[in-house]
Amino acid sequence: MKKIENKINNLVKMLNKWNYDYYVNDNPIVDDIIYDEKLSELFQLEKQYPHLIREDSPTQTVGKIASSSFKKTKHMIPMLSLKNAFNEGDLMHFNKQIIEFDYKGDYFVEPKIDGLSLSLIYEKGHLIKAVTRGDGNIGEDVTNNAKQISNIPLTINYKKNIEIRGEVYIGVDQFKKINEERRNNDEKLFANPRNAASGTMRQLDVLKVKQRGLKMIAYWAMNDEKTFSWKTQEETIINLEKLGFKTSELSVKILNIEDVISIIKKIEEKRYSLEYEIDGVVIKVNEYSFYEKIGYTSKFPKWAIAYKLPGEIKVSTLLNIFQTIGRTGRVTYNAQLSGVQLAGTWVQRATLHNADYIKDLDLRIGAQVKVKKAGDIIPKVISAIKDDSFFKLKKWKEDKKCKICGNKLSRTENEVDQYCINVDCPARMEESIIHFVSREAMNIKGLSTQQIKKFIELKFISEFSDIYYLKNKKEEILKLDGYQERSVNSLLNSIEESKKVSLDKFIFALGIRHIGKKTSKDLAKIFGSIEAMSKLKVENLIEQEDFGEVKSNSIISYFKDENNKKKLNNLVSAGLNPIFISSKKENDSILFGKKIVITGKIENMNREEAKEYFENLGAIVLSTISKNIDYLVIGEKPSLLKMSKVSKDKIINFNEIKKIIV
Ligand code: IVH
Repeated sequence: MKKIENKINNLVKMLNKWNYDYYVNDNPIVDDIIYDEKLSELFQLEKQYPHLIREDSPTQTVGKIASSSFKKTKHMIPMLSLKNAFNEGDLMHFNKQIIEFDYKGDYFVEPKIDGLSLSLIYEKGHLIKAVTRGDGNIGEDVTNNAKQISNIPLTINYKKNIEIRGEVYIGVDQFKKINEERRNNDEKLFANPRNAASGTMRQLDVLKVKQRGLKMIAYWAMNDEKTFSWKTQEETIINLEKLGFKTSELSVKILNIEDVISIIKKIEEKRYSLEYEIDGVVIKVNEYSFYEKIGYTSKFPKWAIAYKLPGEIKVSTLLNIFQTIGRTGRVTYNAQLSGVQLAGTWVQRATLHNADYIKDLDLRIGAQVKVKKAGDIIPKVISAIKDDSFFKLKKWKEDKKCKICGNKLSRTENEVDQYCINVDCPARMEESIIHFVSREAMNIKGLSTQQIKKFIELKFISEFSDIYYLKNKKEEILKLDGYQERSVNSLLNSIEESKKVSLDKFIFALGIRHIGKKTSKDLAKIFGSIEAMSKLKVENLIEQEDFGEVKSNSIISYFKDENNKKKLNNLVSAGLNPIFISSKKENDSILFGKKIVITGKIENMNREEAKEYFENLGAIVLSTISKNIDYLVIGEKPSLLKMSKVSKDKIINFNEIKKIIV
């Protein structure tokens, strides 16, 4: 009995941990299938041994974790979910039930977008409220966030009160961008686009919501509890489009269930080429006049069904488990696989996150493992096939040492991650240098990852400042494979050029844990110079800005470290001395607070650099010309069309601006 009790305890602990990551951190660490497997194992045990049911068992508490500080709001019309169909048989059964109501009409088919549902309330044509689904009856008021979603109209040409529902999502490409940026900033990555979208909707910082580029696809409209705004789903979709909402381009009216099945196959084929993720196909009775007759259960309407498209799962052999070390020293474990074609790509590597993940799933080298793409993007190992041969394999043990430098890995209590704390670890060095030279940091062009590796190996570089002495190694570099006079010169030029970098980019380039671009900007304002930075007193920092505990601790421990201070001094000795352009200068700028549009090439800057240049002068840079702009700034080869759209007194040449500001 003790054994059963222990098993229950372990399951409860594990499931609660996974639940917390899912609901609170928006970062599920195991696949839904594994979660469901373990949950049903727990259900079975609890059924057999009811006296062992724990109060904190997820079977008693699922979904009850309070998560945010948004105002709770009751839905006027409950937000139901849909019954699932898993095969053609389920669809035929659904159809049979529908025709029993003498329904001879069409079905309307739409992709099931994998996002989060949102209800929008418009009164007299104005968006007045946006509420998340919540538990279906009570959701959270996220109006301010919804207003940041670019394709949700704030006003519509429809004067009656109307509630519109749809799915909020983050596009696949946008998701990759967000995670790339989070990786740069050493922030935890989102597991999939749905989690990124739901985490974003629960953000309190509206600016962040705006930047994340959420979108909505609408599929539902009602005037009140009983009255749909139009007569059929097809009309609803057409009218929603007319009102300015985005709907899915794959929505279509279908005559009978056989054609529904063939259209599902077509949608499935297009699945991985869509802008958004879908996890199913929704089939709705097209004519609303039948809805009351067909009816509802307490959870689902009976006039619709969701055909689930399974995420592809393939089996591959786990050949090896290897570490990668990030620039902050964090260890990530990865799987090397025998290789498998999965959701559109050939997969030979998959993430295993941290040691706990591998141990929780009991993954062993040599095992047959199931592989799936999280959100159909990031390959993950989701479980091992536990046949007889599996148990002959050795249990995996977490690495004690950094594979690269051999230093002991450290893991503090309550931290899931292990760290290599050797600041001179070549793996960390490599990652930090890659970050240091990257476009958004020092913007040194011509140093590829391979070259950085080579230079570290040859001991040309062992800290940031060494980059600035590469000019003394020119002859030796020229002797290396793949270097010509021209490429070396252009690299050395770019290195010299980088000395002019702004202080915030310089701080960002240092790669301090948890310090992204935005905090780097704040720090630049506070410090003003590197010198002030290396003399940092913790109290000053705390007094000036509320960075939150994690960031403050990170900044403090970075600047407390003598080694880091030495490195900063070495950078100064190498000729770097970035300073913050004070806000006074910003205010003096003729462009301060002015709305501008840029046309033509501004010196040797690309579009983004030019935008940033003007933003640093306090301008608000817009991309299209409207009545509201103050200036059209022209560089080389400006667009004559743009110039013809504004009055002459609004056009200023970049050369004129330069005369004033330099
Ligand atoms: S209709 C009463 N249409 O799926 C039915 N839902 O499992 C209302 N979803 O909560 C939903 N795409 O978040 C509908 N084209 C679509 C959908 C869709 C995604 C989501 C929605 C809903 C869930 C139901």
